[in-house]
Amino acid sequence: MILVTGATGNVGRHIVAGLHRDGYDVTAVTRTPATAAFPPEVRVQPTENIDLSGVESIFVNIAAFPDGPDEIVARAADSGVQRIVGLSTYSVGDPNPRNAIAVRHRHLEDIVRASGMEWVLPRPAGGFAMTTLEWAGSIKRERTVRAPYGEAHGAPLHEKDIAAVCLAGLTTKDLLGQEPQFSGPESISYRRRAEIISEVLGEPITFVELTDEDARVVWAEAGVPPHAIQARLGMFASMVGVSHPVDPIEPFIGRPGLTYADWVRDHIDAFR
Ligand SMILES: NC(=O)c1ccc[n+]([C@@H]2O[C@H](COP(=O)([O-])OP(=O)(O)OC[C@H]3O[C@@H](n4cnc5c(N)ncnc54)[C@H](OP(=O)(O)O)[C@@H]3O)[C@@H](O)[C@H]2O)c1
Repeated sequence: MILVTGATGNVGRHIVAGLHRDGYDVTAVTRTPATAAFPPEVRVQPTENIDLSGVESIFVNIAAFPDGPDEIVARAADSGVQRIVGLSTYSVGDPNPRNAIAVRHRHLEDIVRASGMEWVLPRPAGGFAMTTLEWAGSIKRERTVRAPYGEAHGAPLHEKDIAAVCLAGLTTKDLLGQEPQFSGPESISYRRRAEIISEVLGEPITFVELTDEDARVVWAEAGVPPHAIQARLGMFASMVGVSHPVDPIEPFIGRPGLTYADWVRDHIDAFR
């Protein structure tokens, strides 16, 4: 059986769907089993006291473990789980001790490697396309995007592609003992992302570039935690006018990555 934590999340839901589609025995973990709405063949467990009996492979998303992944990784190793796929990030390479995202994921990587289980540590790079869902409210209301650093570049990833690498890690031997690093297929600015939403929507969208101060207010209102706001501003400032490196995903999933336009088409209802 394959157990997926963070199963209702952006990435987890696609992992569960892929495992279910391919006929695997899958258990999804969520805090709210009653409303998780998985297909009936998918077993569902609450996040509290996860039962690991019969589990051969586990997917760990630290978003589902605010107190850290130590306990679940140790329990998996002790329970005879054979393989662990831990969702990491390319930013583990940032040595700055104040980069909380890097610190948390380096710790995840360390304990996964030391666990004695077979392991895969996917490292998405270039940013998640999902972050631009934060624009949905203002696009819906007034066809406007308010964001800082319009010329900052990233190589945004579709969550389906992140899930596809995790799925390969869970179900094949190809990636064992690896930290596959992959980004979206193209380097594009935030201003360009707003243009692409406008093109798919078929309506003009105005991009209003915010100062750092205004961005703090807008992101705080959108629920972004203070440490993440600081990290984002620093990151965005460093990405202005500089193409983001593209790390192809094809070696890991056998097809090119989905584009930002693909992502917008999959989520266009959120912006209407
Ligand atoms: N954002 C980026 O640009 C980026 C870049 C590189 C890597 N990453 C990686 O991707 C991860 C995010 O993946 P994602 O977008 O799939 O995650 P997500 O959708 O934000 O969260 C996954 C699930 O975790 C559960 N969860 C959320 N908060 C929780 C809490 N306080 N306590 C317990 N459970 C909680 C929720 O499930 P229930 O409500 O059903 O319990 C949620 O559906 C990051 O943690 C990081 O590892 C992100």
